[in-house]
Amino acid sequence: MTTLTTRRGPQFARLLGVGHYRPERVVTNVELCTIMDSSDEWIRERSGIIERRWAAPDESVVDMATIAAQNALTASGISAEQIGLVLCATVTHPFQTPSAAVEIAERLGARAAGATDLSAACAGFAFGIGLADAIVRAGTSEYVLVVGVEKLTDFVDPADRSTGFIFADGAGAAVVGPSDVAAIGPTVWGGDGSQTEAIILDPDWVTHRQRVAEDPNAPWPRLQMLGQAVFRWAVGEIPGVARQAMEAAGVTPDDIDVFIPHQANMRITDAMVRALKFPERTVIARDVATTGNTSGASIPLAMSRMIEAGEITSGQTALLVGFGAGLSYAAQVVTIP
Ligand code: UT7
Repeated sequence: MTTLTTRRGPQFARLLGVGHYRPERVVTNVELCTIMDSSDEWIRERSGIIERRWAAPDESVVDMATIAAQNALTASGISAEQIGLVLCATVTHPFQTPSAAVEIAERLGARAAGATDLSAACAGFAFGIGLADAIVRAGTSEYVLVVGVEKLTDFVDPADRSTGFIFADGAGAAVVGPSDVAAIGPTVWGGDGSQTEAIILDPDWVTHRQRVAEDPNAPWPRLQMLGQAVFRWAVGEIPGVARQAMEAAGVTPDDIDVFIPHQANMRITDAMVRALKFPERTVIARDVATTGNTSGASIPLAMSRMIEAGEITSGQTALLVGFGAGLSYAAQVVTIP
């Protein structure tokens, strides 16, 4: 048997910089309720959302991701040429192939980079950070760009009372690279494949093609969500996932300076905060109020906005928890870049 040469990277990896992009168009609850049978009061009370951002019709997932990625590169001081891998977490890039990641790499000028997309919906960015951490420490790539991006308005019916007010558009990105100190804790991930129907694009593309053959006006595939089932799962299961991520990193809620859960619904965030018993000083991400639920983009988008606003600072300890369609989840403790 031939002995193969393998690589070994640095002992530790860290987030070097983050960036984000929010589309210009602000859609208030009041405006949305001209399309949807609902009210500003109901939406605020049930979700904490006041307004969200919608991308322009000609603004693509790749357009938004590229801006967020450029901002993350600038913040990290790393050039596009240094990036060894682009991982793009998205479920709304409207091409089965090629990936959004290869186009992002091309636009950035990251010509030495491998590139691939990740499909883990709202948990996608935290999956990406877990993979990037392992890839850097294995010596496979020195610098990994992790992007979370969604244009959910392409796949959500704005009049649908179970999804139209929650989902929105945006992008966030982080550069992961070598570190002298431990700055990304072990990633805890998993899911519940028995609940695939809880959040699903319906119908699938092949069924859609058959339906269009029978009726040219057959409706476009849309995201369907069993809101109550997802809510119960998120509130019941995800605090335990968060505890596992803290234990794996050797920290307790008292050590957490910043809590950035996926920005699904303010009531889910509040329930997690109550369950996890963080100290008063812990800063809680509440970006959903003005950004809406941007699925795979929500965690880096919230982190980047909190850094920009001066609400959190470099060196603080943050707990990231992504959860959503699959059902799937991923969580880790990281140091704010
Ligand atoms: O990001 C991926 C993961 N996703 C999530 O984490 C989302 C999890 N789920 C949720 O956040 C919540 O389930 C929603 C915010 C989507 C919905 O809130 P809810 O408290 O679960 O509402 P519900 O579906 O239980 O409906 C409560 C009531 C019903 O009326 P009755 O039966 O009590 O008279 C609904 O018919 O509210 C009514 N309703 C609405 N009313 C006004 C449902 N949707 C609406 C609406 N506007 N849009």
